Amino acid sequence: MGTVLYIEASPRKDRSHSSSVARAFLEAYRLSHAEDRVETLDLWATDLPAFDGTMLEAKYRILHGETHTPEEAQAWERVTSMFRTFQSADIYVFSVPMWNFGIPYRLKHYIDIITQPGLAFRFSPDTGYQGLVTGKPAIVIYASGGTYGEGSGTESFDMQKPYMKLWLTFIGFTTIHSLVVEGTLLGPEARAKSLEHAITQAKQLAATM
Ligand SMILES: Cc1cc2nc3c(=O)[nH]c(=O)nc-3n(C[C@H](O)[C@H](O)[C@H](O)COP(=O)(O)O)c2cc1C
Repeated sequence: MGTVLYIEASPRKDRSHSSSVARAFLEAYRLSHAEDRVETLDLWATDLPAFDGTMLEAKYRILHGETHTPEEAQAWERVTSMFRTFQSADIYVFSVPMWNFGIPYRLKHYIDIITQPGLAFRFSPDTGYQGLVTGKPAIVIYASGGTYGEGSGTESFDMQKPYMKLWLTFIGFTTIHSLVVEGTLLGPEARAKSLEHAITQAKQLAATM
């Protein structure tokens, strides 16, 4: 039995395009993997600990090979626990809206919490950075109001897809499937066409997993 971790970064539930495609993927996936468990991490309903001064001290102590104070150790425990939950999955599904050309702040907050030395990656001066979340696939579903694909003229505005790809690669992912719903604010026709296309791709992808 495997675990699929679905990380939901849109707060719009049924009205979210990225979440609609994620649901289509998960429904199709369940048909061929009835024994697998799907866990949903709704980032808007999750208590994300502040990544504040104490957390930063705790992080820098690890980077400098120092011991945590009791307060830092307690704060770090929450980071470790959130990372362990993330790490324990076998397949990752992200639904990611574009917000101001990047990703929603709750998703960035989650990334800041779990992307830690000794957990998600390691560094040594000899070998450089090495991602530690390896051997597992990620399916990332992007939604945006405008269009940013090749030939759009606005390719360079897109900090959403390049950032997610860079982060996932940094922490060790090598298999990253991207599904895109674009133009969700460009009228009902454009929106419906793009959504339908992404849902078809999602179902096809689920069948190959
Ligand atoms: C706070 C906010 C910022 C947004 N910024 C952008 C943007 O920079 N570019 C864009 O194309 N669409 C932008 N949009 C539109 C969303 O990307 C679009 O509605 C998309 O469908 C959201 O994903 P969802 O439907 O999964 O929630 C923004 C929407 C919100 C709420």
